[in-house]
This record gives sequence, structure tokens and C-alpha cells, in this order.
Amino acid sequence: MIRELLTYLFERPLLSEARTFGHLSESISLLSRESRCQKSWLPHRTQCKNFIKDHLKLASHFDSVLVLGSGPLHEVPIEELSKAFKKVTLVDIVHLKNTKESVAHLKNIVFVEHDITELEHSLHHDKNLIDHVPQKFLDEDWGLVLSVNLMSQLPIHLEKYINKKLKNKFSSQDVSRYLQNSTRNHLAYLHLFNAPFIIITDTEVHYCDKNDNVIQIDKNYEHLSLPEKLSSWSWSLAPIPEFQKDIAIKMKVSAFMIKKHK
Ligand SMILES: C[S@@+](CC[C@H](N)C(=O)[O-])C[C@H]1O[C@@H](n2cnc3c(N)ncnc32)[C@H](O)[C@@H]1O
Repeated sequence: MIRELLTYLFERPLLSEARTFGHLSESISLLSRESRCQKSWLPHRTQCKNFIKDHLKLASHFDSVLVLGSGPLHEVPIEELSKAFKKVTLVDIVHLKNTKESVAHLKNIVFVEHDITELEHSLHHDKNLIDHVPQKFLDEDWGLVLSVNLMSQLPIHLEKYINKKLKNKFSSQDVSRYLQNSTRNHLAYLHLFNAPFIIITDTEVHYCDKNDNVIQIDKNYEHLSLPEKLSSWSWSLAPIPEFQKDIAIKMKVSAFMIKKHK
């Protein structure tokens, strides 16, 4: 706890939204959770990396790759990307110092701190629920674009912020449409790139009892039609007692690859 607090105080994120929307504290606590759940998270991390490695050959060229939601790089085969592409651009709302240090030996990595929804500034400053398809990076010629365990996370911080700071300002229908649009527009954004892209995302959340019986399933994307998945696996996100002493959480994770012909 004290280590987390010190990390929080000493990090200097470029974007104010990293603190305002809780991304910095979430990134720091993700590292602690990761060290507690390392064993149960490893198969998922390996699946993500293998899926990306297996599909690198489908890049339209090897000058550059764009990684959205790169975070602590637990699910990204960074050494292979660095070898395969001339330039690797890693995008996240916050990059912790130790993530940057861990890849300092790779000289073709570029870190960009950016809100991939492009919604947080207007929500915070104008108190508006806008419907917006992100635009940044679309004017560059990427060989491959990756969205790695990011998509389901996009509405979470927006929802928390609305509940905390803008409670009762909007109708629940407007909020729910806004949150759904954040993932719908992420998918629309990926389709706008003139490059093949990979999406890895959890599509279902399974709550399980002590005997591993599924007691509830939440589906993340009933509001949109995802492409045909190429692979899927179960991620033991919160084994008992990480979430609750008698309930475990597992994610159904799916991986998609959309080819583009130039
Ligand atoms: C589950 S983590 C992904 C971890 C990462 N793929 C890895 O290999 O370790 C989700 C990531 O999405 C980032 N994120 C969440 N909302 C974001 C936003 N609006 N813009 C940019 N990044 C965001 C978080 O900071 C976090 O690093």
C-alpha cells in the first residue's frame, strides 16, 4: 500500500486526465494485482503474445506498428515487435516509469500518452456526453494496428467519473448510450485505419462459485457486432479470494484479426 502511494506521488504523467479519471492509480494497482495473480494470469498473457506473434506476418509493411492500450506490456510481445518493425509506437493514457525503463534497451520504441477515446477532456471540461470517433494516428501509414485488452476498459473510467462528479446531470439512458458508444466508436476507429488490425478483448465476464459453477455471465458487447473471432480463451482474472472470498471472476477473451488489402 505504501509502495503504491509512493509510486503514485513520484509518477509524472503527461496528461492531467491520468489522475482526474483514476488511470494512474489503476495502472499502479494493476501492477500489484499482477504480482499477486501472476500464476493465474500467465496463460492469458502467453495467449495474447502468441496470437500477436502468429499474425505479425499479415502486416502490410514493417515500417511501423501502432499498439493501443500498451500499458505495462504484459500482453505485448515487445521484443518481437521491436525486431519485426522499424518503429513501434506504444499508446496508453499513462506509461509508468518502470515500463519505460524495462524497454530502454530497445531503441525503436516511441511512447505516446493519449486518451484513446478522445472523450475525457470534453467530459471533464465541458461536462458533455459527445459521440465521437477518435482521429489521432489515422493520418499515418501503419503496417499493423493492435488494440490489446483495451476496448472493454474504455467505458469503465468514464462511468466512474460520471458517477462521482456528474451524478444526476444526465439520464441513465444517455449515460448508457454514451458508454456503449465509447466501445462502438473504438471499433469504428480501428476500421478507419488503412492497415490490418488485431483486437484482443474480454467479451464476457463469468462469476463463479467455490465449486467453479458459473453463477452469472455479463456480456460486454451486446450492443455491437464484432467480427468473427479467430481464437478465444478463459482468463482467470480474480481467483478466490482476490475479488470475494467465495466468488471468482473469469473473463472470456477473444482475439480478432481484420485484414486490409491495399
Ligand atoms: C488491461 S490494461 C492492458 C494491459 C496491456 N495491454 C499490457 O500488455 O499489459 C488496459 C490499459 O488500457 C489503458 N486505458 C484505459 N482507458 C484508456 C484510454 N481512455 N486511453 C488510453 N488508454 C487507456 C489503461 O491505462 C491500461 O494500461
